[in-house]
Amino acid sequence: MTSVATVVGPVSLRTPLIAASGTVGSVIDFASTADLTVYGAAVAKSVAPEPWPGRSAPRIAPAGAGMLNSIGIQNPGIEAWAAEVGPRLGTVPTPVWGSAVAHDAEGFAVVAKGLDAAGVPAVEVNLSCPNIEDGRLFALDPDDSASVVAAVRSVTSLPVGVKLSPNAERITDVAAAVAAAGADWVVLTNTVWGAGFDTETRRPSLAAVSGCYSGAPLKPIAIRCVWEVARALPGLPIIGCGGVMDGRDVVEYLIAGASAVQLGTVHFREPRAGRRILHQLTRFMDKRRIEGIAELVGSAEPW
Ligand SMILES: Cc1cc2nc3c(=O)[nH]c(=O)nc-3n(C[C@H](O)[C@H](O)[C@H](O)COP(=O)(O)O)c2cc1C
Repeated sequence: MTSVATVVGPVSLRTPLIAASGTVGSVIDFASTADLTVYGAAVAKSVAPEPWPGRSAPRIAPAGAGMLNSIGIQNPGIEAWAAEVGPRLGTVPTPVWGSAVAHDAEGFAVVAKGLDAAGVPAVEVNLSCPNIEDGRLFALDPDDSASVVAAVRSVTSLPVGVKLSPNAERITDVAAAVAAAGADWVVLTNTVWGAGFDTETRRPSLAAVSGCYSGAPLKPIAIRCVWEVARALPGLPIIGCGGVMDGRDVVEYLIAGASAVQLGTVHFREPRAGRRILHQLTRFMDKRRIEGIAELVGSAEPW
């Protein structure tokens, strides 16, 4: 009998599909749209120590086979988030992980502590959103990244995943640094920087001009990151993220070395995509008599 259960470091998941941060709101309201039982977990929108207003509209635009956004991580701040979302965490049929973002290591620690107190079962540290107006992208630098993870590790004993950036020059160095600082897994990866223009109005697609590019075109970029990190750091669990649109995309990430994957942009086109993708994955495994996810993880063959 085929089982789609998987393990990511200290965490067991009933399926390898995880809803990606920022693409399913706080997760709670998404439960009225989609069947959350198809996900092993869902990551809430990143939350900061204080409220962030986000950036000006337009802040979402189609771009080729992908999508540009410059939401600017609009969020109510950890205090309001904990009051609003915390009491409802147990009302949805999947574990809801928190996601922390901040301008400095201390801020990340404040959010992680707040998420822990609010009752999330795991924390994702978002080092990689490139659309913070005055902020740095921590995930470009191994030392900056490690200092954030160490600060988070010092305030919580929850499982901690760290979301890195494909924009890093040497992502294996950043992954090694966060693993040494206490990360239980890495999420590979977040968006790449992008921009676009309307050829009639000559206006930029986004008011902020530059933003985050996500969706199908991201997949080979993220899979390269998964492959490199899996080879360099075989003991570090990986969650793949970027451009997953169907069951075969999931299999591809698993072969490259991920133990689970996140679904993001696909939710904007098809909110119930998780069910279809899980069905496709199960069919793929059934047809080939693959009994468990572990048979696929890191199973790449040489030429
Ligand atoms: C509109 C939008 C908002 C996002 N907000 C967040 C966020 O708050 N925190 C975060 O870690 N990632 C955020 N992301 C990135 C996604 O979680 C995901 O890493 C990225 O989109 C790549 O996966 P995909 O190609 O499947 O969308 C956002 C993505 C989109 C499209």
